[in-house]
Amino acid sequence: MLKIAPSILSADFVNLQSECADAVAGGADWLHLDVMDGIFVSNITIGIPVVKSLRRVTDAFLDVHLMIDRPQRYVSEFCRAGADLVTFHVEAAQPQDIMDALKTVLEQGKKVGLSVKPKTPASVLLPYLDLVDLVLVMTVEPGFGGQKFMADQLPKIRQIRAMLDELNPDCDIEVDGGIDPQTAPLVKEAGANVLVAGSAVFGKSDRAAAITALRNA
Ligand code: DX5
Ligand code: ZN
Repeated sequence: MLKIAPSILSADFVNLQSECADAVAGGADWLHLDVMDGIFVSNITIGIPVVKSLRRVTDAFLDVHLMIDRPQRYVSEFCRAGADLVTFHVEAAQPQDIMDALKTVLEQGKKVGLSVKPKTPASVLLPYLDLVDLVLVMTVEPGFGGQKFMADQLPKIRQIRAMLDELNPDCDIEVDGGIDPQTAPLVKEAGANVLVAGSAVFGKSDRAAAITALRNA
C-alpha cells in the first residue's frame, strides 16, 4: 500500500505542531523525522526531545530516520520517546552492532528500518533483510532537504524489491530525497511504496494538494 510521509525538515519549526496537523489533515500517512548528528552527516537537526514533544500532540505514525553515527547507542531512547518506526543506516556501525540495534527496536515492540546511502550496494543489506519492516533507499546524499533526485538509484530499488520478494515480501521500501510529482512515478514503478517528501509538501502552501499530487502521480 502506498504511503506518503512528509519530512518535517522542510516545515516551519516554530510552528511544528500546526505544521504536522496540517500535513495529517491533508492526508499524510506518516510523519518523517530526520535526526542528524553532524558526524554521520554534516548537518545537525533534531533529536529525542522533539520526538517526545510531537508524540504528545499527535497520534500520527512517527517515522524516525536516524542519520547518526553508531545508532545502537540511541535506538532505545527513540523508541521510548514515541517513535513508531526507527530507521538507521547500515553504514553507521559494525555489522554486529547493526544486528543488535535492529533487535533492540523490535524487542521494544516498534517497527525497524535499515537505510542505504546512494553509494552503498544493496547486497550489504542481505544479512538483515528477513528482520526488517522497511528498507529506506536514499535518493540523495543524506544531510539536506531540497536536493536533486538521483535517478541512478532506481536499479537499486528494483534489486531490493526482488530480494525482498524472496526473503520478506511484506517489507516496505521507502525512498527519501528529491521526491516530487515528477519523480514519484519512477520510484513507484521501481517498487517503492513509502514516499518521503520534504520540499514537495512543506514547501507548498496547500499541503493537501501537494500530498494528493504525490499519491496520484
Ligand atoms: C535528507 C533527509 C530527507 C529530506 C528530504 O537527508 O533524509 O528526509 O528532508 O527532503 P526533500 O524531499 O526536500 O528532498
Ligand atoms: Zn529522511
